[in-house]
Amino acid sequence: MKFFIDTANLAHIKEANDLGILDGVTTNPSLMAKEGIKGEENILKHYADICALVDGDVSAEVLSTDFKTMVEEGKKLAAIHKNIVVKVPMIKDGIKAIKWFTDNGIRTNCTLVFSAGQAILAAKAGASYVSPFIGRVDDSNWDGILLIEQINHIYSIQGFDTQILAASIRNALHIVRSAEAGAHVCTCPLDSILGLLKHPLTDIGLAKFLEDAKKM
Ligand code: G3P
Repeated sequence: MKFFIDTANLAHIKEANDLGILDGVTTNPSLMAKEGIKGEENILKHYADICALVDGDVSAEVLSTDFKTMVEEGKKLAAIHKNIVVKVPMIKDGIKAIKWFTDNGIRTNCTLVFSAGQAILAAKAGASYVSPFIGRVDDSNWDGILLIEQINHIYSIQGFDTQILAASIRNALHIVRSAEAGAHVCTCPLDSILGLLKHPLTDIGLAKFLEDAKKM
């Protein structure tokens, strides 16, 4: 399973990348706004800065909702760097835009996916990635991991090659469960990635080893 970091924060991206286990980055308009990135020029520059930091796919989201403008925006985003993947919302014009990008050699990430039916449409349109938001599914009292399992089952038996990108990850357990459920990629905030390191028995065991090392 590939690891992406889900942030537009350059310090977090650098910290995760320095671990040597980072395969890419996802962003969204909320994450870009959180970093205070405003205006087309600054937005495009920020994506270029992320691409310069990480050698892997970087999802950059379109901000429009009509086919024609999405295509224009996506072309500009894709021109920033070969690793840019255009992130497109799961709406009718979004599906049309994903199909257009697919036919024109531009890779896409279909975002805001909450059902298996939506995931089928994204795959039919040729999306490179589909992003089920498992944390938000859990928030609405459904089971986000079951959704990953269902999409994985459908894609396997139907032979779709769209990669399942587990998004809206809230903790380290979500990462483990996504891996078990067959997600190809997990995009996580830095805290959830670092959460995988934690186990109290590791801390206790290391403290004891270091104490005994003094007697060696
Ligand atoms: O990748 C999508 C993700 O950023 C949404 O996460 O925590 O806002 O539901 P969250």
